[in-house]
Amino acid sequence: MHAIILVGGRGTRLQPLTDSRPKPMLPIIDVPFLEHQLRHLKSHGVEAVTFACGFLPNQIVGYFGEGARVGMQLTYVVEPEPLDTAGAIAFAARTLDPQRLLVCNGDVLTDLDVGRLIAEHEARGAVATIALTPVEDPTRYGLVRTDERHAVLAFLEKPTLEEAGDDRYINAGTYVLEPEVIAMVPEGVRCNIEREIFPALVGKRLHAIGFDGYWNDIGTFPSYLAANVDMLQGVFGPGGHEGNRYIAPDAVVAADATVGWGAVIGPKAVVESGAHVVKSVVLEHARVGVGARLDGVIVGEHGVVEDGVEPEPGSVVSPGVVGELAGS
Ligand code: GTP
Repeated sequence: MHAIILVGGRGTRLQPLTDSRPKPMLPIIDVPFLEHQLRHLKSHGVEAVTFACGFLPNQIVGYFGEGARVGMQLTYVVEPEPLDTAGAIAFAARTLDPQRLLVCNGDVLTDLDVGRLIAEHEARGAVATIALTPVEDPTRYGLVRTDERHAVLAFLEKPTLEEAGDDRYINAGTYVLEPEVIAMVPEGVRCNIEREIFPALVGKRLHAIGFDGYWNDIGTFPSYLAANVDMLQGVFGPGGHEGNRYIAPDAVVAADATVGWGAVIGPKAVVESGAHVVKSVVLEHARVGVGARLDGVIVGEHGVVEDGVEPEPGSVVSPGVVGELAGS
């Protein structure tokens, strides 16, 4: 099975972390998010991936190349300008022979059973199948309503609780698409798959299957932090890290500093004497000053927490920026 992964978005909700690094290349603990995603897809039999790139593609190409690192065959297409999700999928798909494709957003950390998604798609003879994930509060998302045989009945964008009723399933950002879907996408113009393509397929062999399990769209500060903490604890991924914390081999941590539960200290970062770091991510080349205290904070690449400072939980500290972790 060939997959297309969408990695071209600007990642505005994670700025400034995404000013110099595309969102899919932000680390989750010790490797870029995309490496976790590729290993997951490979475990479900995906052997070839085409990346639909836009913003800062060279970092992705430079890290993964032709795929030896992950044992997969990787290719890249770069849009001349952002074409939005459906436009990007079609732009990439048109470089391949027409075939059934798995399509993934490049910012969802999940253990979704991709093998089952493909099998269900095949068994139903669907033209497109959307993976769904349950959320507690559907009012911030687009709900997908299906009948008992998993045919999509309707999309409800940001419904009220009354409109949502008992429905809790949202689009999980993973699809199986037949070539007919690609043919629907106009060439060379922006086109969104959730708003323009899927609604036009309702009643025309569009299916959606719900999956329980871990699902986290890493695209906001709180969810990016949660992805790191969840993986440290083994809530997601192969298993917990020792002490539920991670210190890169080339980070420098003072002997009397505390790096505790839920802390990630990235490569070449420095944690000075007496500093205290829990449930926080300190990215590459950042510095946590003498006696500083971090709890629920993200320090961006080259960010500096000055000596003795205790940023509010939910802050992001980046060169030139100290702010709240906006969004949720
Ligand atoms: P925000 O700006 O914070 O909303 O992030 P984003 O730009 O990544 O947008 P969003 O999270 O909605 O995108 C979902 C997925 O589609 C991500 O994996 C993006 O990289 C990808 N994506 C969004 N727009 C485009 C596009 O125009 N081209 C390509 N190739 N990918 C896109």
